[in-house]
Amino acid sequence: MTIFNRAVPMFAFTGILFFAAPAVCHGPAEHKEGPHAGSEEAMKPQHERMANFKEAAGMLSDAIIHNAPKLAQEGAEKLDRSLEGHERDFPHKNRSHVKEFHRLYVELGKRTGNLKAAIKADDLPKSAVAYGRILEICAACHRKFRD
Ligand code: HEC
Repeated sequence: MTIFNRAVPMFAFTGILFFAAPAVCHGPAEHKEGPHAGSEEAMKPQHERMANFKEAAGMLSDAIIHNAPKLAQEGAEKLDRSLEGHERDFPHKNRSHVKEFHRLYVELGKRTGNLKAAIKADDLPKSAVAYGRILEICAACHRKFRD
């Protein structure tokens, strides 16, 4: 943990350098299937979505651990909002399974609804389970469509 904390400023600095030169910043997962299989510009909303997902997941995890319903609600709402416009996303690989890709987003939306209901009912243990069911979808999609 301490090492991680020390590494953060370093990280941020490297991050800034990277973002200053987006053309150079191609992840290894990109351009796997065909020359136009994900221009940096086209993939931007999807990358932003993932960053928002990650932030929302962090909020939810903290909220559940620390028994903080308000933070949990904010995390769930962020997750919900982050799903907007997912119809325009596309996978890097297994492109012929694009329908399944989008079904996973839809399922994520449903599970986010369940999570919101559990939070509203002030049931954090149930929220924790609902959160786990959400992570299941993150993991399923990454396993099939990322890298
Ligand atoms: C429908 C598919 C799908 C779902 C669902 C999904 N991801 Fe992703 N995720 C991807 C793909 C594809 C990538 C690879 C890079 C990209 O396209 O942004 C990725 C990359 C990421 C990254 C790395 C950052 C990046 O842009 O490369 C993070 C962090 C991430 N996802 C978090 C999450 C979290 C948290 C969830 C669940 C709340 C989630 N993702 C749900 C498909 C998905």
